[in-house]
This record gives sequence, structure tokens and C-alpha cells, in this order.
Amino acid sequence: MASQKAIGVFDSGVGGLTVLNAIRKQLPCENLVYLGDTARVPYGTKSAVSVQRYAAQATKALLKHDVKMIVIACNTASAYAIEHLQAQFPDIPIVGVIEPGAIASCKASQTGRIGVIATEGTVNNQAYHRAILELNPEAMVSALPCSLFVALAEEGWHEGSLVESIVAECLKPITATLENPLYESLDTLVLGCTHFPVLKGAIKNVLGQSVTLVDSALTTAQWVERLLNERALSRGHEEAGSLRFFVTDGPDRFRRVAGSFFSESIDGCSVELIDIQHID
Ligand code: DGL
Repeated sequence: MASQKAIGVFDSGVGGLTVLNAIRKQLPCENLVYLGDTARVPYGTKSAVSVQRYAAQATKALLKHDVKMIVIACNTASAYAIEHLQAQFPDIPIVGVIEPGAIASCKASQTGRIGVIATEGTVNNQAYHRAILELNPEAMVSALPCSLFVALAEEGWHEGSLVESIVAECLKPITATLENPLYESLDTLVLGCTHFPVLKGAIKNVLGQSVTLVDSALTTAQWVERLLNERALSRGHEEAGSLRFFVTDGPDRFRRVAGSFFSESIDGCSVELIDIQHID
């Protein structure tokens, strides 16, 4: 039965575990298969054509495991590739993180002044701009690339004065407007990258209470649940679902870094190395 199949989740690497974490909490009985394309991370600095190719290969690899739905946990891949994937694989529901993040930000914002921090690729693609303006044509959207946060998060540098200094330096274009009474500054900031939720505390300390931080992982998990129910694809079991991990490079590093992004221990789970670059 289709409902008994797993949900396939992919990302450029380990960061998408923040999205997997939210899905696991929202839908603990679903079987989940996660693919991290660790051989080709980061996607955030790659061209649209490359990211679209990588995303198609990741989707094909997950389909080989007979999944019932694909979740693109990576913001950059969602920005560049969701429409391509939906056209190329019309028989399977494909969910990205941009639309759920845009909905959450419009709900959170009182003033319609919404900021987005993300990778260079997501910022250049303007996917969040389009999604937010579709929901609220009056919104004022600004975006700032913060690719350095990806390295901080992966190195386990999540809090402390040094992290806050780096975050403050990178977020200067935003804090400058917050401190300037001539500007109507943003009241909501979308964490538009898989890695940024782990830096939430540091970002909050730098920006203060006037800015609401939106993490699209939770909204994406709720979106996945709604879609499963609409399509009668919920597993409907009482016992916990299984977890299975695939990576395209460095399973040991993946295991080591996973703890920063996923709240459950993955010690008892398999992390298999696969090649997706030559997948047909
Ligand atoms: N997963 C990417 C994203 O959410 C961040 C890491 C990368 O650049 O691949 O955009």
C-alpha cells in the first residue's frame, strides 16, 4: 500500500536534518529516508543548472527506495529546482521549504517588512521574494546572503561571544536599519537556510526582541502532514517509524556532525554511502 512507504527527504548535506527533525516530531510514526549529498555540498554557491541536476539525481535516488513523497529540505534546491522536479516527476508529491517559510513569515509579520537570510543562491534566485509577494503584494522583502553561517553551524559553533560577533558582523546591514529611526525596519526574519536554526539563539541576541525569527522547518512538517492526509498517504501506525540515512561522501563525518541538527541519536541507524552522480 502506498501509505506504508517512506517519505524521502534530501538536502545538500547534513543541514537538512533540521527539517527531518521537525518532520520526525510532527509525524513520529512515518518511516523516513534521508539523503545528504555530502560529496557536492555546498549547493548555495553553485549555478542553477548544477543545483537542478543534483536535485534531479537526489530525487531519482530516493525514488529507487520507493518513497511516497519527496521533501526538498534544502532551501537552495527548493529555490532553483522545485518546479523542474514537479514537472519531471509528476506522479509523486514534491514539497519544498520556500512556500511554507513564506506563509509562516507572512503570518508572523505585523508590518509586512520581512527579511530573508540565506545562501547566495537562494538570495539571487529571489524565490522567497516571489513567494512572499504572492501572499502579500504589499510586503517589503529584503534578503541578505550569510553563507558563512553554514560553516559555523557545521563546526558546532552555535553560541557564545565569538559566534555572536561573527553573526553581528554579517547582520550589520539589518542592525543598521534597526538602529536608524529614519528606517522602517523589518519585524520578521526568515531563516532561509537549513543550517540557520541552530544559530537562532545567537541571531536573536544580535537582533533583539523586535524581530521575529521564522524557521520554515516546522511549517514544512505541517505542510507534509496536511498533504499526506489529503492524499490518504498517512502511515497510520502507532509505533515509531524507521529512520534510514544515505550520504554521497563521508558517512563518519555525517554521524559526527548530525547531533548539531537532529535531536535524536542516530547511533543505531545505518548511514550508507551511495553514488548518485551516475544515476539514470
Ligand atoms: N542546504 C543549503 C540551504 O538550505 C545550505 C548549505 C548549502 O549551501 O548547500 O540552502
